[in-house]
Amino acid sequence: MKYYCIAFGFGILVVWMGQKGEEQKFNSYPNWKVKSSDGWNSIADERNKMMMKLNFVAQQWVLMGRRIQTPFSMPRMFSSAIKQCEGGVSMVQGASRGIGLEFVRQLLEKNNKGHVVATCRNPNGANGLLELKNKFAERLDIHQLDLTVDSTIEAAAKSVEDKYGYLNLLVNASGILSIPNTLQPETTLNKLQRDSLLLNYEVNAVGPILVIKHMWPLLKVGGGTGTERSLAVVANISARVGSIGDNRLGGWHSYRSSKSALNQLTKTVAVEFARKKDPITCILLHPGTVDTDLSKPFQKNVPEGKLFTKEFSVQKLLSIINNAKASDNGRFFAWDGQEIPW
Ligand SMILES: NC(=O)c1ccc[n+]([C@@H]2O[C@H](COP(=O)([O-])OP(=O)(O)OC[C@H]3O[C@@H](n4cnc5c(N)ncnc54)[C@H](OP(=O)(O)O)[C@@H]3O)[C@@H](O)[C@H]2O)c1
Repeated sequence: MKYYCIAFGFGILVVWMGQKGEEQKFNSYPNWKVKSSDGWNSIADERNKMMMKLNFVAQQWVLMGRRIQTPFSMPRMFSSAIKQCEGGVSMVQGASRGIGLEFVRQLLEKNNKGHVVATCRNPNGANGLLELKNKFAERLDIHQLDLTVDSTIEAAAKSVEDKYGYLNLLVNASGILSIPNTLQPETTLNKLQRDSLLLNYEVNAVGPILVIKHMWPLLKVGGGTGTERSLAVVANISARVGSIGDNRLGGWHSYRSSKSALNQLTKTVAVEFARKKDPITCILLHPGTVDTDLSKPFQKNVPEGKLFTKEFSVQKLLSIINNAKASDNGRFFAWDGQEIPW
């Protein structure tokens, strides 16, 4: 056992030294591109791929240790990383209906090995999700999560950690614009009310960022392992009206500013991920005007051909997500891949 411990420690040291060496090499040439098997890539993307490979080596050490039943306890990060699923693990928050539900459907249908964790406020009433559960029982988990209740966010993170130990994708798809008899988007400053401002901020900005906070350790472990990407992705569904530079119409003060807050918080998180060299890229997405419950009361002025189906919009957004790179971290994209000004 003494020799095993020494060998294990030596292995960890080699992996750590390898990571440090690669880090120094890449940090010396930040703007260079390198040719790899899949074409010319930035140094940052290559570095992330290398980190994934080193992570894999570390996981193999842990697997070996598990097989011979090592008596000492492994760090949680490593012990959970071994329950790896081919196809990766994605989480969609706000999955009961609309764009979120469509994300779950397409993630399950387009990747026949991927696992999906769908969260919503009321799982028993989420009929669309329950139908998908009947069809994809093995690969879909449904958990309760209300953005306004911290304990539900923590419990969802714990469930994902216990079952998988990591995440490769987090989509924050929830959002509110109007609620019958409670919330209406303002047409003038005179209609602004404290309650509606705070409710919009809580659901559209505060909640999604707290979800990222709790899923962060899982995303760090997951990175792109098991997927075709080199990184984990956090995709926050924002809205073009959240752009301050693009604000020409005014109105919708609460919703608009809550999405601007989401954008700023997401950008801030993205900067931190990059600074800590976490294998995560964090993007904001505008889905276009999509035919869902959220847009229904406001569809009459939408120009012909500009009201998208959920299927079309999510297909476009998934293509941006699947191609996300380190250089996309902290950027705000529309459904067609065009960058939106802040
Ligand atoms: N549709 C559009 O044209 C459009 C345009 C630009 C941006 N967006 C953005 O796209 C995202 C999805 O919108 P959508 O059109 O799919 O809207 P939707 O059909 O109204 O769905 C909204 C989702 O948010 C969930 N939600 C609301 N409050 C929540 C809370 N406190 N905790 C957890 N989940 C909560 C809802 O769950 P319940 O079923 O429990 O209410 C529902 O799943 C939103 O962020 C929206 O701002 C939409």
